[in-house]
Amino acid sequence: MLTCKVMENGFEYLEVANKAATARIALQGAHLYHYVRRTETPLLWVSGCSRFENGTAIRGGIPVCWPWFGMHDNPELPQHGFARTSLWTLESHSDITSEQSETVLLLRSCDASRQLWPFEFELRLRVRVGIALEVTLETLNTGTQPMPLSDALHTYFPVSSIENVHLEGLQNKPYFDNLDKGIYHQHEALLSFGAETDRVYQEVIWPLRIADTMRTITIDAQNSSCAVVWNPWIEKCAQMSGMCQESYKTMLCVETANAREDARVIAPGALHVLSTTIS
Ligand code: BG6
Repeated sequence: MLTCKVMENGFEYLEVANKAATARIALQGAHLYHYVRRTETPLLWVSGCSRFENGTAIRGGIPVCWPWFGMHDNPELPQHGFARTSLWTLESHSDITSEQSETVLLLRSCDASRQLWPFEFELRLRVRVGIALEVTLETLNTGTQPMPLSDALHTYFPVSSIENVHLEGLQNKPYFDNLDKGIYHQHEALLSFGAETDRVYQEVIWPLRIADTMRTITIDAQNSSCAVVWNPWIEKCAQMSGMCQESYKTMLCVETANAREDARVIAPGALHVLSTTIS
């Protein structure tokens, strides 16, 4: 079942509910910010200090970073692109079974997008809510020029305490460290967290797993060989918009991306599909 809802300040979101799970998706950014399976605790983290208002990206859930990941060469352009703060439209919704629904949101190129990025596109986010969460970002180049693209499904996961968790699946993978701009290889089988971490891994073979004390979250992906792993830690967290002072303790971002060496060029008429499945 799909219900369209509006917050007191006019911020619009969709609520999807079926026998397996419930999810909430803001029209701004097609931003999925809540997913919980029946009888469990949420599988997405959202900051208790996040604002839900037009023009500001929600801090948590799955921001759609598109059509560029990270900082643009032109510092006047917004970090992580403009999709996450654009107003999308609901294209379709269907209840596939009593335990699975599919909701599709659409963003098309328009005068405002052309001022930031001179390409023609249709961008769809397809969200399947069920016993697993499947999120698919479809980029269609509707123009006549090849389109440079880097993107990410910038997922915030809840953790019991960041010092308790390990990320599995990145052994021997090369990564760009955004903190000192160096290139390194990870030697450990398990990545643990005790300081600010901001890394773009390449040659990733999904799935990755977040092993926590009480549960393991599995993150699978298609058409991505790049994972971004991020926790701002104490000082950066205190300076960031939408974060409470201690937020860094209860979240970890593991992002399914096409960034740096895994960035793409989409030919005219071609479709690029990036997807992630969380269970
Ligand atoms: C991560 C980046 O993906 O997103 C970090 O690697 C960045 O460098 C983080 O700080 C959050 O970005 P923003 O724009 O949502 O504050």
